[in-house]
Amino acid sequence: MNSVSANAEAPEQDVDNMLYNHTCATLSELDMEIVRSVPSGGNWRNLPEATIAKSARLTQIYNSGGRTTYYGRLSGELPSYTINTYFNRPGNGTFIHPTQNRLISMREAARLQSFPDRYRFLGSFSSRFKQIGNAVPPLLGKVLGDGLKCGFYVDLFCGAGGLSEGLRQAGHRVLVATDLNRHMCETYRLNHENATVVQANVLNEADTDNLIDTIESKLKGRTLNLLAGGPPCQGFSTAGKRSPSDVRNSLIFRTLVFIHKLRPENVLIENVPGIRWIRQGRLLKTMLDALTREGYHHSTLVLKAEEYGVPQRRRRVFIMAARNGDLAEKPDALFSSVADPSARGDTITGSHSLPPPITVSEAIQDLPEIPSGGGVDSIEYDRSKIHSDYQKYMRGLVSIDNLIARRAEQA
Ligand SMILES: C[S@@+](CC[C@H](N)C(=O)[O-])C[C@H]1O[C@@H](n2cnc3c(N)ncnc32)[C@H](O)[C@@H]1O
Repeated sequence: MNSVSANAEAPEQDVDNMLYNHTCATLSELDMEIVRSVPSGGNWRNLPEATIAKSARLTQIYNSGGRTTYYGRLSGELPSYTINTYFNRPGNGTFIHPTQNRLISMREAARLQSFPDRYRFLGSFSSRFKQIGNAVPPLLGKVLGDGLKCGFYVDLFCGAGGLSEGLRQAGHRVLVATDLNRHMCETYRLNHENATVVQANVLNEADTDNLIDTIESKLKGRTLNLLAGGPPCQGFSTAGKRSPSDVRNSLIFRTLVFIHKLRPENVLIENVPGIRWIRQGRLLKTMLDALTREGYHHSTLVLKAEEYGVPQRRRRVFIMAARNGDLAEKPDALFSSVADPSARGDTITGSHSLPPPITVSEAIQDLPEIPSGGGVDSIEYDRSKIHSDYQKYMRGLVSIDNLIARRAEQA
């Protein structure tokens, strides 16, 4: 399947020339000492023993040989590692700015997730880290949306709306979006003005019934083309505590209630790769068997974000199901991928016929310098700093299809 969209929207203008959410978390004195010692592309292994001895966590990582993504500093020359919800702390991933002694800002993380700069995040400081780190990179949502006939969709567990933003870019139209969390709903509402956003708990029967009524009244007898959703993944994620009994694991099954009542043409469920291994694969099998019983054929795709233009090595599982018609195929890779994200070899692999993936420096180098713990929520953007097609794309000055075509020409 060719992934370049026929129904891609024309690029939107860089309307207000503002830059939003360019603020970063504060570092303790010890964390700042750590940050200063880690070179670009480095991690806790680069720390002097005297620094390691000051922290119980670092000593434990040092003695047990912890992940080499911990206390990592991004390399400008490669896509980032996974941006999770902890990019306000240096010890939980590779979140140190490639050249400045600070953590990446929310805007930089949003860029690494492929959110365009017009996308604003509202709510408390801590919620915005979660909103960005939890999101499906919009470019993944778009490439999957491109493979489906366009129509109306509902977004369960909508979060800040990363998946929805991608579906919107592919030409789909949201009817109703829902999330338990007020801050998520606020951000979603601001960025998807045509959506009916309902704050609700899908574990609650009354909330579920009300949601189904709302969706049916919006459909006005029309068919729902797509039920989309990314249920929370803490129970399956390697970033969180993997716990088979986590109540959040049952949320994926709540989608079946909506599928049973609404009979959407298509279903798209996003999750972390770890979902395939939970209870030796029985959880995923139970879900897929239930979809079969509901009359859907399905496939489970694993996508590498950097292969679709996201400047990040994020792997995600997508369950695609269809009631009639053809099941969407795995979209063709547009960029080459990077070696196993847990390895520090970092050699760019994949097909030599594909252009290289977008790098961290292409994604964020134009953004203004800010101090650790500083930045501002809204400042004027300086266009003279743009030096890559991806930055132009983030500002709405070129389309993703233009970017892909130009990169293929340069490869
Ligand atoms: C992984 S995030 C979704 C991210 C979203 N798909 C995106 O692309 O931005 C999961 C969301 O599920 C929501 N959630 C958790 N428990 C819920 C519940 N019981 N009912 C509804 N939403 C819930 C969380 O607030 C969170 O925003």
